[in-house]
Amino acid sequence: MSIKFEKVDYIYSPKTPFEKKALNNISFELKEHSFVAIIGHTGSGKSTLMQHFNALLKPSAGQIKIAGFTLNAQTSNKNLKRLREKVSLVFQFPEAQLFESTVLKDIEYGPKNFGYSEVEANELAKKWLKKVGLPSSVGDRSPFDLSGGQMRRVAIAGVMAYEPDILCLDEPAAGLDPQGKREMFALFKQYQKEGHTVILVTHNMDDVAEYADDVLVLEKGKLLKHATPEDIFSDAQWLSEHHLAMPTANLFAEKLVENDLSIDVNPLTIDKLANEIEEKLVKENNE
Ligand SMILES: Nc1ncnc2c1ncn2[C@@H]1O[C@H](COP(=O)(O)OP(=O)(O)OP(=O)(O)O)[C@@H](O)[C@H]1O
Ligand SMILES: [Mg+2]
Repeated sequence: MSIKFEKVDYIYSPKTPFEKKALNNISFELKEHSFVAIIGHTGSGKSTLMQHFNALLKPSAGQIKIAGFTLNAQTSNKNLKRLREKVSLVFQFPEAQLFESTVLKDIEYGPKNFGYSEVEANELAKKWLKKVGLPSSVGDRSPFDLSGGQMRRVAIAGVMAYEPDILCLDEPAAGLDPQGKREMFALFKQYQKEGHTVILVTHNMDDVAEYADDVLVLEKGKLLKHATPEDIFSDAQWLSEHHLAMPTANLFAEKLVENDLSIDVNPLTIDKLANEIEEKLVKENNE
């Protein structure tokens, strides 16, 4: 089932001096099982949009169709539990929300809350502790004795443990080391391939190019563009007009072209660029 936003507005503190329209007439449809990146400058409305996917915020106007629910300004907070089981949201720095006395208990909390038995919740917690790359020995420790990166992994395991259909991540890799970040993204990509939808807020264009197959670009609360990464990153002028960066591979390819080494100018990822250069060198050697 697709996710559909229809003319969604969101206004913080309406009818007060602090009134702020953070989303303005947003409409789009996302395909099931896609990996969607949401990009845009600071304050463009990304986190506000994210919080609409599981009804933490409800549209001030317009409506959202998601996971069998229709959400609008009148939607009551009752009966949203099933939505929150299907659509889960990982905030920025989710480790701030750890609270249990042991790591396993923290990961079990979500599954138990959504009706899994003690035994099932424990099995899911062990499974996801491993999947996020932590050794089983960590399970009985206090989450507060772990490193920041380990805490982040525990928090993400806690959300993935009840295996939501739609996983929403707000800058999940902020502050992780490069290796840890690659591992987490490989996990999210694998999760998508196993038949889930992943929605990611990021400022990193390399991640968009590498992992996303669909992109929403926000600007001042409006949807500026909805397109594939290939489309988004094929228009250097448009990107520069909107002060958006290019993926590193494209910047490198541009430099090659400037130096008269003609090459595919839209490689998106370092791997694709390396292949392109290799093919070119092999061809030149054979000539
Ligand atoms: N609780 C709030 N009350 C009032 N205004 C808010 C609130 N939260 C966000 N805003 C405003 O709404 C707009 C969108 O904020 P939002 O946090 O969605 O942006 P963002 O794209 O996630 O930014 P960032 O990249 O910095 O995380 C901003 O102008 C922000 O100041
Ligand atoms: Mg944000």
